[in-house]
Amino acid sequence: MSRIIYRHSVIALAIGALSLATLPAAQADAVADALANYKTQGAGTFDAQAGARRWSENFTDAESGKPINCASCHHQDLRKPGQHIRTLKPIEPMAPSANPQRLTDVKKIEKWFLRNCKGTWARACTPQEKGDFLVYIQSQ
Ligand code: HEC
Repeated sequence: MSRIIYRHSVIALAIGALSLATLPAAQADAVADALANYKTQGAGTFDAQAGARRWSENFTDAESGKPINCASCHHQDLRKPGQHIRTLKPIEPMAPSANPQRLTDVKKIEKWFLRNCKGTWARACTPQEKGDFLVYIQSQ
């Protein structure tokens, strides 16, 4: 009996240690992979300040005719939750420091860059712009 309990707690500890260890590592890996891809697509040095500037650069929303930027849905302060301007659904904070799930999956990052750049800027973001956003978001 006690051996079973012991075994369970060892497994629980191992799982706990694993999840603690993998989250930040997954984040670093996903961002590093994405940045390496952007370099092969012609991007230069990435600049968090450029990412910060573009985060709140206003465009005109084709649907509403109102100004729109990344912060319209995600909040200006990346550590705070946002709200979708159309569905009004809450959006979890973008900053990895406030939300460890962020920037852990290259496919998810690319999927949302594609959608959000088109939805906000009415065009795809360039590899340089995406990399600037990632280093900015990661720094928050
Ligand atoms: C109309 C609302 C809206 C706007 C504007 C918007 N986004 Fe998003 N974004 C979302 C939603 C919804 C998700 C997916 C839900 C989630 O991850 O919480 C998302 C997810 C993301 C993700 C995925 C991050 C991750 O790893 O979880 C990134 C990166 C992102 N957005 C970047 C941007 C950038 C850069 C801009 C500006 C060019 C932008 N978004 C503008 C709604 C928006």
